[in-house]
Parts: sequence; structure tokens; C-alpha cells
Amino acid sequence: MTQPFQYQNNTLTCEGLPLDRLAERYGTPLYVYSRPAIVERCRMIEAALGDIPHIAYYAVKANANPALMQAIAGENFGADVGSRGELFLALRAGFAPEKISFSGVGKRDDEIEEALHQGIHAFNVESAEEIEVISAVASRLGKRARILLRVNLDIDAGGHAYISTSMKQNKFGVPHAQAPAMLRWASGLPSVEVQGVHSHIGSQITDVGTFLAAARALVETVRAVRDAGVPVRELDFGGGYGVRYHGALSHPGLPEEQPDHPVIPVPEMVKAIIPVLRQAGCTVAVQPGRSIVGEAGALIVRVLYRKQGEGKTFIIVDGAMNDLIRPSLYGAHHQVVPVTLRGEAAERVDVVGPVCESGDFFAQDRPVPRSVRGDTLAILSAGAYGYVIASNYNARLRAAEVLLETGGATLIRPREALEDLLP
Ligand code: LLP
Repeated sequence: MTQPFQYQNNTLTCEGLPLDRLAERYGTPLYVYSRPAIVERCRMIEAALGDIPHIAYYAVKANANPALMQAIAGENFGADVGSRGELFLALRAGFAPEKISFSGVGKRDDEIEEALHQGIHAFNVESAEEIEVISAVASRLGKRARILLRVNLDIDAGGHAYISTSMKQNKFGVPHAQAPAMLRWASGLPSVEVQGVHSHIGSQITDVGTFLAAARALVETVRAVRDAGVPVRELDFGGGYGVRYHGALSHPGLPEEQPDHPVIPVPEMVKAIIPVLRQAGCTVAVQPGRSIVGEAGALIVRVLYRKQGEGKTFIIVDGAMNDLIRPSLYGAHHQVVPVTLRGEAAERVDVVGPVCESGDFFAQDRPVPRSVRGDTLAILSAGAYGYVIASNYNARLRAAEVLLETGGATLIRPREALEDLLP
């Protein structure tokens, strides 16, 4: 899989476009995404799924920009949505309703009604009470609702506790041992059709062993459900495939970064899991989010000031935690690189934003080639869970977003204006 951000004559480019020029044209902070990188990842995932009957759903929560979703819909992907808003955006972007799944632990009645009205493929359900509500809403509308039961496999996916979802203390899914009885009961409800089982064990998972253990456990659950007399047509294995954050880009002018764990690219991960999932003998679904858009995006910020603290150098930039909250929220690592390499030696710095919180940082105690006021920096692997979690905290305007392909840039979301801050 190609790294879409590359230096050409010491200037960072994406799809041949110099990022300093884009920063001048569109202003900063600025999200830039490579369309070819997104399309390449979609195609590689599709190829990795191979000849098994399958469907790949893009997890819209990773990045819900309409233009970017349109590119993914154009690759014949389905969409996994987690709210009425995501459903609205997915339909607008051109995802076929029969290729939309609806996930989430707390679907409102109006969301269920709208999804049934639109004729989505299935709901990934998370509790008996939710199944009852879906059945009641479907009966009222004279529709049948297909459901997959999300099971909690009690597997530790590692990584940050906030994004590990399949341990028994997490709110997600129902304990896998309850699946056979619950689905037997559900298959007797008037307006519900049991379609299968689902799991999503967490996010940014880089260990193939964890995925293999989950796949085996899920196949076991399918067997147990069938033993209870309930047919299973679909097994949805969820998302969670990790991307490169440490050392996303290597260049002689950059300090070297080593990942804590080797990151297995998503196509290889999928290829490793498929033989296990195949044993279930049904349609296999996956829901990748980050692995499609994460490495395809970067956040471009401009250096406002340098400040010498006691034993610390701060690089104060014009982007902040309201633009990209992952470092503040999860202590996540994003590689920070100068857009222009001038052969400067690296210095240890904190790269921080203007927000009134000490947690407002992009990097702490990190070697970065010396940068001064006016320079632009790129925060890499920011395409997933970046703009979607942006806020107006400190009455800061949300950034602009630009989609790049060979031959040009398209503004796919303008920067907010002051008026947008008014109620
Ligand atoms: N399916 C379901 C049901 C999910 O909840 C998620 C992500 C995905 C698929 C996609 O997972 P992915 O392939 O993107 O790992 N904000 C956090 C990540 C939260 C993930 C939430 N669920 C972060 O920035 O790391």
C-alpha cells in the first residue's frame, strides 16, 4: 500500500501537489486527503476478501465527509452507519440502502423507523430489549427487519481502553454464550428475521493473533447458534484493522520512528482471517474504517510561535485539540513532519495548539526538525477520527477539507466562518 505523502525536492507533496501551496491557498489548519490512496485501500480489501461471498462496509464514523464517502461508494462498498445522521450522509453519498448496516448500542426509535423506511440491509443489534423495539417498530410499519446479533467475545484487543470493545466489562454486544437462546427467541418474533452474528473487537489492532482468536470464537458462536436450530446466513467480523502512526513516513531528513508493534497492512490482515471465517459457511462482512482513510489524510498546521520554557521548547501551531483530539484523548501518536525540509537538525519539542488546556498537544518531547514562525507542519495519518471529532471548543472554527488527486485539489468542505458559531 502506498504512502500518499512524499517529499519531492524537500517539499512534502500529496498526489504531486506541494502542501505548502495548498496551505497558502486554503489556509490552515487544513485537512488534506488523497483520493487515490483511499481507492487503493478499498480495492486491496476487496481483493483480499477473494472468492468468499462477502460484503465490505465502510465504517462511516471514521470520516463522514460526503465527497470522500462518494469515492468509497464508487468502489462498490457498503456502509456501516451508527446514527441517523450517518445514514443520511451514506444515502446522500450514493451507498445503496441494501448495502447499509446499522450498528450501535443505543439506536433511537426514530432511527430504527427511518432505517426500515429506507430499506437498509440489517441492524447489528446489541440487546434483547433493542430486538423487541425493532420488532415492534417493524410490525407497526408492516416491514421485516433483518438483524445480526453483536456478541461480546471477551477478548482483550490491546491498545487504548477507550477503543477496546469486546471485553466483558464493555457495554458492547451480548455475552456470546447468550447468543443461541437469544437468537432462537428473536427468530420467533413476528417482524424480525435473524440474519447472523456480528462482532467488532476494537480499533487500531495490529496483532493478527488477536483477530484470529476472535474469528475462531465467532465461528464457534455461529455453530452454537445453528445447533440451537437458528439458520445463520451472515457473519460480520467488524473493523479494527490498524494503520501506521509511528514512522508512517521515512526520509533521511526526518528522525527515525519505530512502531511499538509491526503494523500488518489491512489486506494481509484480512487474508489471514478469511480462512477461519470461511469455516462458518456463510456470507462474510467486514467494517473497516480507519484502514481505508487513516493513512490517506494529514492535518496541515502553521507554526505561530516558538517558546523556550524551562528545559522545554514549545512549538505553538494554529491547529489544536479541537481539530484533532486523538493525542489529547488517547495519548495517540501522530508523526509530525515539516512540510519543507531545510536540512535543519531535529530538536526535542512539544508541538502544541492555542487551546486553553495543557492536554492540547500533538506531540510531546518529540524530535522534530527545527521549525520557525510561518513554517507549515504535517500531522500524518490523520484521515480517520480526525475531522469527525472536531469541535468548536474555544469558539475555534472547524478546519477546511481538501481532496487531492493527480492533477488537482477540490475543496470538499469550506472552513467555517464566524457566523457558523452563532446559534
Ligand atoms: N464497526 C463498528 C461497530 C465500530 O464501532 C467501529 C469503530 C468500526 C466498525 C470501525 O473500526 P476501525 O476499522 O475504524 O478501527 N476514535 C477512536 C476509534 C473509535 C472506533 C469506534 N468504532 C480513535 O480515534 O482511535
